[in-house]
Amino acid sequence: MKFKTAVVTLSDKGSKGERQDESGKLIQKMAEEAGYEVVEYALLPDEQEQIEQTLIQLCDEKKMDLIFTTGGTGFSVRDCTPEATMNVATRNVPGIAEAMRYASLQITPRAMLSRAVSVIRNQTLIINLPGSPKAVKENLEYILPSLTHGLEILKGETGECGIGLDGK
Ligand code: MTE
Repeated sequence: MKFKTAVVTLSDKGSKGERQDESGKLIQKMAEEAGYEVVEYALLPDEQEQIEQTLIQLCDEKKMDLIFTTGGTGFSVRDCTPEATMNVATRNVPGIAEAMRYASLQITPRAMLSRAVSVIRNQTLIINLPGSPKAVKENLEYILPSLTHGLEILKGETGECGIGLDGK
């Protein structure tokens, strides 16, 4: 099954047309190369209520299997992506965010500054990625190979957790 995927970019500058959304495009490319079907895209300012409404709509009405957000996970006063994501969650999935910080810390100590979260809302997995294309690439590369298995379990397509041939 091809999982229906959305990319949501959170950027005040991007939403005003003052910055190109390189990170959103990169997520789309990497996700499609990994076999996901990217069917929805949104570019929003760092406004918590607007982000929550968009996430709810993508989960409940558009029935996305997977949502990647990018941006708004740092310490700026406007950064509110993790708060918006937690507010719409039905279950926490801390391991994915932990894995991203683990992998990223091998690259830069500043990875500790990421407040990204990963959660489930009913039948949708939502994952926060950082804002820069470099950080997006480094994080996605590490988590993408394991996501399909999680989504298959979420969708009831498999209950088998035997290690795959590639050990991932
Ligand atoms: N993770 C990786 N892999 N590579 C990076 O360069 N940058 C960090 C962190 N995670 C980084 C990373 C930095 S500097 C910040 S402030 C946080 O992600 C939050 O990024 P955001 O505010 O763009 O969402």
